[in-house]
Amino acid sequence: MTDAQEISDHWGKGDVYSRILETMELAGIDPNSLTIEQLAPVDHFHARGFPATVELADALPIREGDTLVDIGCGLGGPARYLAKRFNCRVEGIDITAPFIEAANKLSALVGMADGVRCQHGDGQKLPYEDETFDGGYTQHVLMNVPDRNAFFAEAFRVLKPGAFLALTEHGLGEVGEPHHPVPWSEDGRGAYLMRPSDTVEALRTTGFVNIDVTDTGEKYLQGYKAAMALAEKGEAPVFGTHILLGELAPQIVQNAARNIEERRTQPVQIVCYKPE
Ligand SMILES: C[S@@+](CC[C@H](N)C(=O)[O-])C[C@H]1O[C@@H](n2cnc3c(N)ncnc32)[C@H](O)[C@@H]1O
Repeated sequence: MTDAQEISDHWGKGDVYSRILETMELAGIDPNSLTIEQLAPVDHFHARGFPATVELADALPIREGDTLVDIGCGLGGPARYLAKRFNCRVEGIDITAPFIEAANKLSALVGMADGVRCQHGDGQKLPYEDETFDGGYTQHVLMNVPDRNAFFAEAFRVLKPGAFLALTEHGLGEVGEPHHPVPWSEDGRGAYLMRPSDTVEALRTTGFVNIDVTDTGEKYLQGYKAAMALAEKGEAPVFGTHILLGELAPQIVQNAARNIEERRTQPVQIVCYKPE
């Protein structure tokens, strides 16, 4: 099995779209009057979910009419949020085919199929022309990317001069060796964590400038702890990302928290720019 297939199988188990619709029904959400806010507990599939997307968006110079690329777009939640908030267009690409199918069906369901288009592909080899996008972002994707240099070079190529690239991820902590399972890997296979300082160096070598790094570890930790506290009280929401993480979800959340506390991972948000 190729690395790409293994990573795709890890994320997209079974019929993802049907599972989302079935769980929406259980949660009493009517698909015929669905809003992107109702989808947010599931389709912002990264640490801290929707609030983390909002904070990232607050930090980005997005203008009305921009065209953005979401590399590793997952179910398309962040893409739909940005398209709606900034009245811009977003192209998404993701290596997991069942996520792309679900992303496009969800966009159609909320009437946003014109503004957000997702397609199947690998961030290490983007299917776009040079200098296409006003900005790009990649949330919680790089943990699975074997060739970061190729990934950054492709992002650089498809961005216009002056465009931003934003990324969020669990970087490798100074202690290293995260406990598994974690969201991106059950047992360490398909995991390619890098120290944030090495990521910054790779971005710089690619040509990106004005690289700004924010440590998001404490916020993530509080987010995981809040989710664990709700689960302990039996109050975890019916419609949440556990439906994507599967039966290992409780252990995954515990490990994600513990890895940060033990400095095995170091979550970061990085914003940088292609020179003018
Ligand atoms: C934690 S999910 C994040 C999804 C989305 N960015 C979000 O924040 O909602 C990680 C995503 O990265 C995708 N991914 C992993 N490696 C990739 C690659 N080389 N190219 C494109 N997508 C990739 C996975 O398929 C998965 O959808």
